[in-house]
Amino acid sequence: TEFISANDLASMMNVSVNEVISTCLSLGMFVSINQRLDAEAITVITDEFGYAVQFTSAEEELEVEQENEPEENLEPRAPIVTIMGHVDHGKTSLLDYIRNTKVTASEAGGITQHIGAYDVTTKSGNKIAFLDTPGHEAFTAMRARGAKLTDIAIIVVAADDDVMPQTKEAINHAQVAGVPIVIAINKIDKPTANPDRIREGLSKINVLVEEWGGKYQSQEISAKSGKGIDDLLEKVLLEAEILNLKANPNRHATGSIIEASLDKGRGYVATLMVQTGKLQVGDIVLAGANYGRVKAMFDDTGKKVATAGPSTPVVLLGLDGAPQAGEKFSVMETDREARELAAKRSQLLREQSIRTKKHITLDEIGRRL
Ligand code: GTP
Ligand code: MG
Repeated sequence: TEFISANDLASMMNVSVNEVISTCLSLGMFVSINQRLDAEAITVITDEFGYAVQFTSAEEELEVEQENEPEENLEPRAPIVTIMGHVDHGKTSLLDYIRNTKVTASEAGGITQHIGAYDVTTKSGNKIAFLDTPGHEAFTAMRARGAKLTDIAIIVVAADDDVMPQTKEAINHAQVAGVPIVIAINKIDKPTANPDRIREGLSKINVLVEEWGGKYQSQEISAKSGKGIDDLLEKVLLEAEILNLKANPNRHATGSIIEASLDKGRGYVATLMVQTGKLQVGDIVLAGANYGRVKAMFDDTGKKVATAGPSTPVVLLGLDGAPQAGEKFSVMETDREARELAAKRSQLLREQSIRTKKHITLDEIGRRL
């Protein structure tokens, strides 16, 4: 059954129809303004915009309702911070120093392959959830998604280098997503470091740091010696304070998939970031076209945990597949509900991939003629 047009759905959600269409495109669905949408498509689209949808089968009507949380249910939550920047400018080293571990040394070729997620308590006793994002150009798409579940971006620029293409790209991602930026001018321990060159390079792309009379907080640091890192974190916390971040820690959890893969011994392993609510062992989780009961959860140090609240990254066992990075997840009431929605979504994905393939084929025929 087809319910309403893309245009009507857009006005029910108070967004422009163009936003609905471009969101559909990013999900691989080709939708036109007056195209009537079926239940599956509506469920997927409203979900993307943070609305819950109810189908009243008798009248084939639907109610779209924003999942607004009453103020009294909200509690402060830690900021989710993404570290971005050009290849080799020191993103992983900075996170290593903050976490006091040695992730870089164990990485194949020293290039970050996954978005790692970590929980950190600063010296001042505040919590920050960190996402480390890959620097290689091939991971641009993943990074774009990374910016979406981010409250604040740290842009790392190496002082012995310059403002590079991926520095600009990272700044651009953050600005488009409306995410506040704190600049970390790294590698100041190096004899060839020239922080002024970085400040100047930034000013050329309209990112004027506070020292130069601009609005962007910045901090000179060395990820090697640790110099300036406590100050950097305090600046991040200042930015977080302005944002006044809150979430309801007592509802069913929702959040985003950071990464997921198949582990020979343990089955599907997913790293996810809880954004609202409390995730618990035994919960039924729906993530994109996958679902499952949470068998076990681990924190970022590998320790078993029974629950995880807002702004907490956890590794989860129990899903029936590996959802894509950036996919949203939510806890469902019943196993049946989760199974059915997962099945609908995988069917939708299959149909989309067929449509996409047809599109490409036609295009290729066109080019050959
Ligand atoms: P990708 O993940 O590949 O994009 O790189 P990255 O930005 O995570 O850089 P990474 O932390 O792997 O650092 C790259 C190189 O710079 C390594 O050899 C680090 O040891 C070195 N490095 C990072 N920070 C500093 C610093 O503050 N001072 C000095 N001297 N070297 C640093
Ligand atoms: Mg790295």
